[in-house]
Amino acid sequence: MSRVDPPSVVNIADLRLIAKKRLPRVVFDYIDGAADAEWTMRENARVFDDVMFRPRSAVATSNVDLRTTVLGESIELPLILAPVGSSRLFWPRGEEVAARAAGEAGTIYTLSTLSGCPVRDVKAATHGPVWYQLYLVGGRDVALAGIERAKNAGCSALVVTVDTPVAGMRERDVRNGTKELVSGAPFTMLPFVAQFLARPRWLAAFLADGGLMKFANVILKDGPMPYADVAAALEQSMVSWADFQWIRDAWQGPIVVKGVHTADDARQSIDHGAKAVVVSNHGGRQLDGVAPTLCVLPEVLAAVKGEAEVLLDGGIRRGSDVVKALCLGARAVLIGRAHAYGLGAAGGAGVARAIEILRSDIVRTMKLLGCASVRDLDRSFIDIPPAWRNDRFGTPTLDEIDRLRVHGRRPLSQEIIDSARRRDR
Ligand code: GLV
Repeated sequence: MSRVDPPSVVNIADLRLIAKKRLPRVVFDYIDGAADAEWTMRENARVFDDVMFRPRSAVATSNVDLRTTVLGESIELPLILAPVGSSRLFWPRGEEVAARAAGEAGTIYTLSTLSGCPVRDVKAATHGPVWYQLYLVGGRDVALAGIERAKNAGCSALVVTVDTPVAGMRERDVRNGTKELVSGAPFTMLPFVAQFLARPRWLAAFLADGGLMKFANVILKDGPMPYADVAAALEQSMVSWADFQWIRDAWQGPIVVKGVHTADDARQSIDHGAKAVVVSNHGGRQLDGVAPTLCVLPEVLAAVKGEAEVLLDGGIRRGSDVVKALCLGARAVLIGRAHAYGLGAAGGAGVARAIEILRSDIVRTMKLLGCASVRDLDRSFIDIPPAWRNDRFGTPTLDEIDRLRVHGRRPLSQEIIDSARRRDR
């Protein structure tokens, strides 16, 4: 029996506790923490509780089909591994190990730009598809070379994250001395090193893996970019809509825009060539106080009108959360912390266990709902709070449309405006 099997591990929260015991505080809190008061992170997860199921009883569902397609690629279950920076600090060769577990489960692994294993090694480690997540760390030429390597490695989509004009204020990272620890200056590091000594098994594995990872996919003039705290790296990662032209020209394949919070940005993404958008607030790690992603999903779906695939991340801890997101219209979800806890707890076995927990939750939930295929999930299987049924969860109000105009943003489609007029008349 492995340490991630039942009865030790029954749910994702159990994997989180094992990761907490195995990882130094600075590493665990990097995964577990978020920006400012961490309100958005908590709400991302909590808001799933506001959605209630409406099952259909006495429906025979002996076989439940979890397969779906995303950007034309068939996946065995409707979840994708989200990009998680610094995964190599959680487990030796962490990105390869996580990608392999994703491939074995029949799904996609998304490699962060801020990762420790080279994209070609990550692609070679898995039978499954790999997406490459793009930050513009190091500038345009460095990003162009990264895109080229991702293309040559066989990555099938480019995920452009658009919510990092600066890094969010992750208070735990400051308190744990992240910046000081990567400074390389012994006296600066000294007050914070005890947290490593308290985790000797992690420390031994970390040293055997070559010590502090470099950003293996950000190749500067003199080689891979040395590890910097991720906040510092994100500071250089601003991407604007104007950049999409050269990104598209260089990539020439499907682009996913990650970090969409509003109908307007969903339209912008499509206008700039996105084939899919991820309704995401970066797991609450950037702008604290933005709405939880599940609440934003209907607004984004209404704006996208089927012109792009709509994915969602944030707060997924149970298979029932995945099912709720699909009932509200997401095509699939991305899991970040849920797989990172598994990686930190037990490497590949932990990631596989995280996926298996969610997979079996989804199957059970679907059987209890009386629904035989994830492609048949829809709003009829859930009840949402009355407040969600009004304007925010469908068509924006005329006031909101006016506000968008006042801010000089591109107005919504005529169809949405007409339907708001009809309703508000
Ligand atoms: C990286 O993208 C992070 O959120 O830490």
